[in-house]
Amino acid sequence: MAHATDLILSSSSRLLTLYSPPPLQNAHQLPLPPGSLVSAIAADSSDNTQTLFPFLDSDATAPTRLLLLLLKRVVSGVQPTGSIHLGNYLGAIKNWVTLQDTYETLFFIVDLHAITLPYDVQELRKATRDTAALYLACGVDISKASVFVQSHVRAHVELMWLLSSSTPIGWLQKMTQFKEKSRKEGGENASVSLLTYPVLMAADILLYKSDFVPVGEDQKQHLELARDLAQRVNNLYGGRKWKKLGGRGGSIFKIPEPLIPQVGARVMSLTDGLSKMSKSAPSDQSRINLLDSKDLIADKIKRCKTDSFAGLEFDNAERPECNNLLSVYQIVSGKTKEEVMEECKDTSWGTFKPLLADAVIEHLSPIQVRYEEITAEAAYLDKVLSEGADRATEIAESTIHNLKQAMGFYL
Ligand code: AMP
Ligand code: TRP
Repeated sequence: MAHATDLILSSSSRLLTLYSPPPLQNAHQLPLPPGSLVSAIAADSSDNTQTLFPFLDSDATAPTRLLLLLLKRVVSGVQPTGSIHLGNYLGAIKNWVTLQDTYETLFFIVDLHAITLPYDVQELRKATRDTAALYLACGVDISKASVFVQSHVRAHVELMWLLSSSTPIGWLQKMTQFKEKSRKEGGENASVSLLTYPVLMAADILLYKSDFVPVGEDQKQHLELARDLAQRVNNLYGGRKWKKLGGRGGSIFKIPEPLIPQVGARVMSLTDGLSKMSKSAPSDQSRINLLDSKDLIADKIKRCKTDSFAGLEFDNAERPECNNLLSVYQIVSGKTKEEVMEECKDTSWGTFKPLLADAVIEHLSPIQVRYEEITAEAAYLDKVLSEGADRATEIAESTIHNLKQAMGFYL
């Protein structure tokens, strides 16, 4: 099983190996300094903690409340457009499952992002529920993580507007994804929301004072913008200026760090090893969707693009397809890079393709079974999403309060 150490902490200027805290299953495993405030809170079965920290859940046990105070926070989301594919899973969702043991986690379905390009109104609702069900099927555990729909927590949009006033247009115009997507939409015809999309994403992150954001490589630039924006707003409105307005002073926002996996951060298309696997690619043959049948997966892998070199190897720039398929095999089989190198160095494509197909099918089968179970019970998902939104709203409201106070609003 993967651990948080398998992820690298990546920011614009440095690559750090993430520290390796022991997975925390519950508060009782926390080593607490005897006699300290924290151990007093942990031992406290009365409701004093609620008085001290009113933003904590009133029916949470004291140890749970303590844990939430101490844990660093992780947030992430996927758009409910098209179907979730192996790239979304290996680049993002699979890592969430590892992180939920160590951090306080909030995972949302970013439906407000899904309307930035023309979309099918008949599909959005279903895609939103399906995406939520897939989160759970992939192993997101609601006893550890909050799962909710972005549009169910109004504060995302409110914070986006507040942040927009501090965002220079130039920052948005230079985003690679905006340039690519707006070109496809015919330049001037692209919606304003396509331009302002990174401000909404920054709001998603800053709203929860997130420490880490696990995403695939393609989101790194948006994360950098969120960091810059947090710093800018802290400088413009935080510190002594905020204190004069009756606030706490200091920083309003935390500066979030992207968490980008070492392997799987950029899963490539099955039909072109130089393009990323994507929901919007016209050919379904280019991606493996998490809910594809066994036969379809085997067929897609059988027909995927390869090369005419002998043997298989990682990291040869002339063999992007080979590197991609070996990396996918490495993750889904749970083997190390060295083990895969050794196993496959003399293997032909004819032998490797069925091996890869079997490993992908074996990895995805339990996810597909759980997905069927979860979607069979409609009320269950509604309850999960409603509880998730309640928890998220609690945190979000305090951030909105702070920022509005610091920006001088009449509260
Ligand atoms: P999206 O499909 O744009 O909503 O992406 C959801 C998450 O999946 C984000 O964290 C992306 O960075 C990640 N992701 C999307 N495509 C890929 C890919 N081909 N390889 C790795 N990660 C990806
Ligand atoms: N923009 C991201 C994507 O397309 C999805 C996203 C929206 C997100 N808000 C987020 C990811 C906040 C992490 C944190 O992949």
